[in-house]
Amino acid sequence: MPMHEPATKPDAQRRQILSLEAATSALEPSDAQRLDWQAAADASVNRFMAKVNQHPTYQLPDADLLGRFDQQVASAEGLEQLLRVVEDGMTAAGILTAGPGHLAYVPGGGLYVGAVADHLAAAVNAFTADHSAAPVAAAIHAQTIQWLAAMVGYGEGAFGDVTSGGSHATLTAFFVARHAFGIRARDYDKTCVYLSEHTHHCCEKALRVLFGDDLCLRKVPLANQAIDAAALGAMVDADLKHGLKPWMIVATAGSTNLGRVDPLRQIAAVAKDYSLWFHVDGAYGGFFNLCDEVKERFHGLAEADSVVLDPHKGMFLPYGCGAVVFKRGESLRQALDHSGAYLQDRAGLQQKSAMDYSLELTRPFRSLRIWLALKVYGAPLFKQALSEKLLLAAYCRDQLATIPGVEIVSGLDLSIFAFRYVDSGRSDGDLDAFNKLLMQRINAHPEAFLSSTLVDGRFVLRVAILSFRTHLKTVDRLIATVRAEVGLLTQQGGAL
Ligand SMILES: Cc1ncc(COP(=O)(O)O)c(C=O)c1O
Repeated sequence: MPMHEPATKPDAQRRQILSLEAATSALEPSDAQRLDWQAAADASVNRFMAKVNQHPTYQLPDADLLGRFDQQVASAEGLEQLLRVVEDGMTAAGILTAGPGHLAYVPGGGLYVGAVADHLAAAVNAFTADHSAAPVAAAIHAQTIQWLAAMVGYGEGAFGDVTSGGSHATLTAFFVARHAFGIRARDYDKTCVYLSEHTHHCCEKALRVLFGDDLCLRKVPLANQAIDAAALGAMVDADLKHGLKPWMIVATAGSTNLGRVDPLRQIAAVAKDYSLWFHVDGAYGGFFNLCDEVKERFHGLAEADSVVLDPHKGMFLPYGCGAVVFKRGESLRQALDHSGAYLQDRAGLQQKSAMDYSLELTRPFRSLRIWLALKVYGAPLFKQALSEKLLLAAYCRDQLATIPGVEIVSGLDLSIFAFRYVDSGRSDGDLDAFNKLLMQRINAHPEAFLSSTLVDGRFVLRVAILSFRTHLKTVDRLIATVRAEVGLLTQQGGAL
């Protein structure tokens, strides 16, 4: 019997359909219910916003948190109560990443305008991947990318994609770079990529997705905590002499570890000399190119073939908002040019559609967040907010350096730096234990939360200032806390 042959008479069929329709129409809230839900969601958001500047920046989960959550979910009735349970649970433990005291990893904040954009985008639920399905959304997407590309310094012909984050953007960039060089599987084990120990781990992850373990990964020596361009040139030269195939250089404009910017101009020159793909990871630091006071560090950025940016970092937008731009936008289209018979009805193919420039087909309307934020606030306000972060970081570093025993262990290119307590009387192991304890004690204060990294194998504390909500008050409190805790710990003999 064919799969859909009716087993019942049409009247019975219609009755069945209508009874299911009556049940499933509950999926569409009535106007009154929608208004109630909007009020409940607003109330939840407003309660959170009232606390975002005061909440402890980090809370350890109590042993019962998840059990209590399950119980509360089981007894909650309706969306309003469920939202309340989720809100309570989400603010009861973990890092308050939206708050001003989040100075760990790479903060951002989460501009509320992004939530407004998402609300409309999700309700309209347009198929924004295709120009003919959503011409205005496609225009907003294209304008957003053009703004990002211009911010990098690219001219006409540049294009890119708005992705879920830097990792997805990086995978896209490397995929396109592999295609542009026509690299075949048989060449993988001869293909060389140059990066550094400060390259974000998502780059190696993307390379592994694309090449397995077959690639020649070259870690370029550092000078001043950034890629040594002369050593890079020598490495490429040596690889060529050994019959290998240098392919791509991955530079970082703002490393996650220490916030350093690789010497982009010199690296661009090496890439040019050897005709290599030049990629810049600007996920953390790229938007600082807006700021005149650090612009010089970004000279060479516009020479890159591809640049990754994370608007959920440097534009403070909610998580799930990355981007990649290519100097030659068509390289992206050429690498991703695929279609199917089911798409034969697409119209307006002369217009740019996101799906032709992306690993994704169906996508949330992420560009609307960026576009709306730019329209509402304007680029100069972002520039000012980033300038504030640059100054806060310099001020914080200078003040921490005045605390006896505290040593700043990184240069400061942007808004991340690292420090540790040093005391010549202690062994390296003791100092690591001391600094771990110092960080625990700083993080036990509600106002600021730091994370750590290693410099030359030694435990160091990082300060990463990027949230739009982080202002002088938070930084002053952090400085006072570090001063007090160093004082207490040294009085107690380190309490080790
Ligand atoms: C320099 C850098 N590159 C890439 C990434 C990965 O980005 P995402 O977390 O958005 O995937 C990060 C994240 O912190 C980063 O700092």
